[in-house]
Amino acid sequence: MGVKFVETSLRDGHQSLFATRMTTEDVLLALEEIDKAGYHALEVWGGATFDACLRFLNEDPWERLRQVRAVCKNTKLQMLLRGQNLLGYKHYSDDIVEKFVEKSLANGIDIIRVFDALNDLRNLECAVKAIKKYGGHCQIAMSYTTSPVHTVDYYVELAKKAKSMGADSLCIKDMAGVLLPGAAYELITRLKENTELPLELHSHCTGGIAEMTYLKAIEAGVDIIDTALSPISGGTSQPATESFVYALMGTEHDPGMDVGMLERAAEKMRKVQDKYLENGLLNPRALFTNPDILKYQIPGGMLSNLLNQLKNQGALPRLEEVLREVPNVRRDLGYPPLVTPLSQMVGTQAVMNVLSGERYKLVPGEVKEYLRGYYGTSPAPVDPEVKAKIIGSEPTIDYRPADDLEPQFEKLKEKYRDLAETDEDVLSIALFENVAVKFLQNKKQPQLEVVEFNLYIGR
Ligand code: CO
Repeated sequence: MGVKFVETSLRDGHQSLFATRMTTEDVLLALEEIDKAGYHALEVWGGATFDACLRFLNEDPWERLRQVRAVCKNTKLQMLLRGQNLLGYKHYSDDIVEKFVEKSLANGIDIIRVFDALNDLRNLECAVKAIKKYGGHCQIAMSYTTSPVHTVDYYVELAKKAKSMGADSLCIKDMAGVLLPGAAYELITRLKENTELPLELHSHCTGGIAEMTYLKAIEAGVDIIDTALSPISGGTSQPATESFVYALMGTEHDPGMDVGMLERAAEKMRKVQDKYLENGLLNPRALFTNPDILKYQIPGGMLSNLLNQLKNQGALPRLEEVLREVPNVRRDLGYPPLVTPLSQMVGTQAVMNVLSGERYKLVPGEVKEYLRGYYGTSPAPVDPEVKAKIIGSEPTIDYRPADDLEPQFEKLKEKYRDLAETDEDVLSIALFENVAVKFLQNKKQPQLEVVEFNLYIGR
């Protein structure tokens, strides 16, 4: 049977290449052609797109979803959800999670890919229940990383647990692009032996190996791969859709897609590529291969963050020391996968350890919260000495972090009853209160904006 394709250019592609700045107008540009090309699904929502719409683009993310849904008559729509963190950076209360899932499905999403940075499945319970309740396809993604505890057996066990939770399909989420071809072959062979659920692979081209890894994954029986139309592919993004379709043409894995339609879609998307190259949001450097991520086993985004932090402190020459400290911090903290928000936490801690001259002399609040158990259970136990040095004998929790959170939805609805016109508005506020309130106020008083603007021009 042919391999199925999920198109990522409208979510992860531009999130990886140009900081999630693709506008709804650009998203819609080639959508009719994309919808007719024969994809399994289109990833069009979730991840950082929600925040970026409100914060940078002055757009309503819910409106984007409805517009995309209106165009896509043939293809399923997919989104990425960070478990109890939804599309934000902290744990939200269960009623917010349930309502958010309900409204995502009601506004047009078919498949929700849900994951937790630590692979702590308790942080997915509420979202998974809601996806099933409101009739969505629940895909549970396993954050892929390498460490002494992240063995093939670990992922096989995780996959079994995900299935018993109610997953309709599984995904290996290699957010850093560090899954090697041979490892992928072994992992996928073992997963396919142990579960009959459809299996999807998600990786990034950053380190230059994703195409090789995908091919080995296909040989091992992976069902679905994530690719991006060529103008939004490669570098920190996914492998190119058309190239992969050509590569598989005439083989037993031929996806049977409409190549003419893909070419027409790519031609339109090239205009989008041009636009972001010209306005500088797409830095050509993001397109070059960076094998350092394989050497240091850290995501490309984390590497550039470390560079920025060191540059700001005038400490660029100490990069090598920091890069050597990252795996030490990771080991001390029980080998968390380096994905948001853990990648930022581990990176910052490594910088502090090196620059302060004493390990764990300075510790960010988030790392303390992590040690107290408020992000979930670490994959391996935290180093007891490090824990004692940072939080002493302070109490830690061993229950699901969101168990501490009171229902929020009705409270927010009441608090913002003059501003929020729909439940979707309330959810935007629940996720990003300051940003969403500003956006909604702005939307309510566009005339005022125009008057001020004219006065300014008049002067
Ligand atoms: Co990704």
